Amino acid sequence: MAAPAMSKDNDSLADMLTALRQFTRRSPEPPAAPALQPVRDTAAPLTPEESAKALLAAINRFAGFRSTATLERKLGQVLRNVPGEEIQALLDRVERGAQQELIAIVEDLTNHETFFFRDTMQLDPIARDILPELIAYQAKHERHLRIWSAACATGEEAYTLAVMALDALCHAGHAKFDQQHGYRLLNGWKLDVFGSDISRQAIRIAKAATYQESSFGSFRQMPDGWRRVFVPIGNVSGRYGNDVTNMTLLPSVTAHVRFDTFNLMSRNPPVLDMDLVLCRNVLIYIDVALQPDAINMITRSLRKGGYFVPSLVDQINERQLRPRWINRCAFYEKR
Ligand SMILES: C[S@@+](CC[C@H](N)C(=O)[O-])C[C@H]1O[C@@H](n2cnc3c(N)ncnc32)[C@H](O)[C@@H]1O
Repeated sequence: MAAPAMSKDNDSLADMLTALRQFTRRSPEPPAAPALQPVRDTAAPLTPEESAKALLAAINRFAGFRSTATLERKLGQVLRNVPGEEIQALLDRVERGAQQELIAIVEDLTNHETFFFRDTMQLDPIARDILPELIAYQAKHERHLRIWSAACATGEEAYTLAVMALDALCHAGHAKFDQQHGYRLLNGWKLDVFGSDISRQAIRIAKAATYQESSFGSFRQMPDGWRRVFVPIGNVSGRYGNDVTNMTLLPSVTAHVRFDTFNLMSRNPPVLDMDLVLCRNVLIYIDVALQPDAINMITRSLRKGGYFVPSLVDQINERQLRPRWINRCAFYEKR
């Protein structure tokens, strides 16, 4: 289970401090954006706690993050070491809509914890029930399976879904796998998996598709049998000076997956006609009041009969979605 994104350790707070100071010293000024609300209307300098609140409010408007007392306190501690005029310069830029600053702070506040085949309690019913149903539908329609991993972090979830979909297509007789060629789709079938995340750093890693085979990393819960889709691409020195193998996925898997940055607070979905959308381990970090808009935006990306899969703990009250219970997990079908 992911560690809470909003409780990063002191190291990352120190990184954030460095990032904040870089921004406050940067020039020239970014272009002005519409909202011109002043941060405060008195000449009195803000306390570090007030500054932290103002910064978190801007981040809430931009990325939907819910502010927590712990985060406010920690950010307040960080800001205590930054001269008042630097903080004020940063807040002024942020209030004028300077997105670069917000993006950089969001990078520091987000938790990109993820791994291949995460939460098999949800993935097993997807492999056994949901994907065969979606493939049966597409066999009578476009023969084109479209999947979106929304907030995919460093890409493991998107690649996992691609492998699961390819295997389901093999099982249904619409694809073939052999060790020499990898996967081959048959009879005009297409598969597109889109992975998106607000973090540019995470998307860069996802596109590179190179993962270290360390015990607590991306491969920590690999089910048996999945090694066949990975290829070793050399050894590197690990965190403890040990040799670690870099792995990538078969080209016949990566060929079906593409990535881009996308903020779940956006009004419109980046893709349409999706058969399946996963958005897991992220809504818990989004303000409860803003979650319905994100869920509605995701729902609009689905075709009728497509499925939305949030985390087990997420509360979904979207009238266009009907829950279907399998294995004590809810899968939300678009009406
Ligand atoms: C804990 S990871 C979850 C990764 C993957 N879905 C999983 O379950 O393994 C949460 C991801 O959500 C992303 N995120 C947070 N807020 C976001 C937003 N407003 N829009 C898009 N992505 C966001 C973070 O950058 C992070 O990579």
